[in-house]
Amino acid sequence: MALERTLSIIKPDGVRRNLIGRIFSRFETNGLTIIATRMHHLSRAEAEGFYAVHKARPFFNDLVTYMTSGPVVISVLEGENAIAKHREIMGATDPKKAAPGTIRADFAESIEANTVHGSDAPETAAFETGWFFRGTEQFSVATR
Ligand code: CMP
Repeated sequence: MALERTLSIIKPDGVRRNLIGRIFSRFETNGLTIIATRMHHLSRAEAEGFYAVHKARPFFNDLVTYMTSGPVVISVLEGENAIAKHREIMGATDPKKAAPGTIRADFAESIEANTVHGSDAPETAAFETGWFFRGTEQFSVATR
């Protein structure tokens, strides 16, 4: 297994409903370490750039409007197999299909307001962490 980094976003519905601590706790109790974090209200340009891979999808405009509707909490998580582990903790994109005990099964409001985002592969994790954090803002467990 490899030590990986992945990007996590607690979306506007999660921040609005005061879920930050409960979500962070799930990361930490499952072996993921928060090595960078920041609360931020995304501009449309930031949200469009971040989700550029979905530009052609019918839900793109609504997604950008939703992601800019309130502040989010953006973090870099580090751990063994962090990308897959984070996705397992989040559950499926559609909360109706998410496994019991996952963040989305427990908290998500809809397929759009699904409380959390996580990178889905090493390439997207590298792009997404770099979109929001410089290397000097990520405090690896190895260097603490
Ligand atoms: P996320 O993991 O952040 O990646 C893309 C987001 O688009 C997804 O979570 C949802 O918030 C949103 N979305 C809205 N509608 C859909 C859909 N039909 N399929 C996939 N994602 C959707």
